[in-house]
Amino acid sequence: MTTTLQTFLVARDDLGRTRLAAGPLPEPADGELLVRIDRIAFTANNITYAEMGERMGYWRFFPAPEGFGIVPAWGFGDVLVSRHAVVSAGERLYGFWPMATHVVLRPDRVAAGSFVDASEHRQPLPAAYNLYQRCAGDPSYVAADEDWQALLRPLFVTSFLLDDFLADAGFFGATRVWLSSASSKVALALAHLLRSRGGVEVMGLTSAAHRDVVAALGVYRRVWTYADVPALPNDGRAVFVDFAGGVALRRAVHTRLGEGLVYSSAVGMAHRDAEIGAAPPPTGVKPVFFFAPERLRQRARDWGREGLEQRIGQAWRAFLPVARGWLEPVHSCGPEAVARVYEEALHGRVPPRTGHVLMLGEGPGQD
Ligand SMILES: NC(=O)c1ccc[n+]([C@@H]2O[C@H](COP(=O)([O-])OP(=O)(O)OC[C@H]3O[C@@H](n4cnc5c(N)ncnc54)[C@H](OP(=O)(O)O)[C@@H]3O)[C@@H](O)[C@H]2O)c1
Repeated sequence: MTTTLQTFLVARDDLGRTRLAAGPLPEPADGELLVRIDRIAFTANNITYAEMGERMGYWRFFPAPEGFGIVPAWGFGDVLVSRHAVVSAGERLYGFWPMATHVVLRPDRVAAGSFVDASEHRQPLPAAYNLYQRCAGDPSYVAADEDWQALLRPLFVTSFLLDDFLADAGFFGATRVWLSSASSKVALALAHLLRSRGGVEVMGLTSAAHRDVVAALGVYRRVWTYADVPALPNDGRAVFVDFAGGVALRRAVHTRLGEGLVYSSAVGMAHRDAEIGAAPPPTGVKPVFFFAPERLRQRARDWGREGLEQRIGQAWRAFLPVARGWLEPVHSCGPEAVARVYEEALHGRVPPRTGHVLMLGEGPGQD
């Protein structure tokens, strides 16, 4: 059993500079929990959290020493010590964690299947990130699917909300949807949902190195490389959903699709030279930033929390068997392995079919 707190720190002004901090385990106060973080998923989405650490507040979830940030990640943890009246030691939790071995939470609004972390510094941050599922009371929890839940569930919720948003808007009159960074998990999930819905042609844009792998997955009608952009078919009306976020690519796509581009959604910045929501093209529609937690709040108001969860759950159950066919969870355990995966993700060297699941402390993970 680890008796020290280990934390993976990233320099805020240079995401390539990292270090491991070690210290004593924190003591939970009355009403708090000490949680041992067991496994977290790591994808380009976490790199975007770091890129947007200052601007969108991702550094504020888990405070770090001056000049450093702690990258947040989705996954599972176990309550090691409880000083809370309802949530007990030994409980398994799912939620948003620091890249660390342990964290202290302060449960509030405790229900059978969830609670909210009421730690003061987290209160101004989007509520979706402060919610923890208590696995034993969560009817959708399947122990054998933990890797899949950590890797895909938060991304799938974004894809679900995008699919719903576009359909709700009648695809702005378009019959074709272009997805950049088509090899990303969030894009693949959206392509699956759009294809299942039918009525629009789903096209993928990816790097040359990923084209064949993505095309073989069969989720896109056709997969094109970024070099193909000047020759893309531009007949009819189209929507562009940009997960790559590169300024030059966005301009090239807007220019090629021209007047036929009726809506442009800026979702991701996988390519890292990105300025989300910025860099308007010379003419035509302006990219609109899509922020999943905002749409989630909207749909919770429209459908009620239960109605929303029931819809997401149903779509998730249909998606999971498909995802198992294209993604392979890969476990890495210990600080060195975690640093290696972080660097691979930072530089975009993770193969599209690999899903990294990390364990910073000691544990049963394998390399
Ligand atoms: N706005 C929101 O609410 C929201 C919600 C969820 C996710 N997102 C964003 O969607 C994006 C994809 O997330 P994900 O977790 O699904 O990603 P992922 O599965 O890890 O995607 C990896 C893919 O991204 C591209 N990529 C990653 N790093 C790169 C680099 N350094 N240089 C060039 N290309 C790189 C490559 O795709 P290609 O070769 O195909 O370009 C790569 O195959 C992220 O930016 C994430 O933050 C946004």
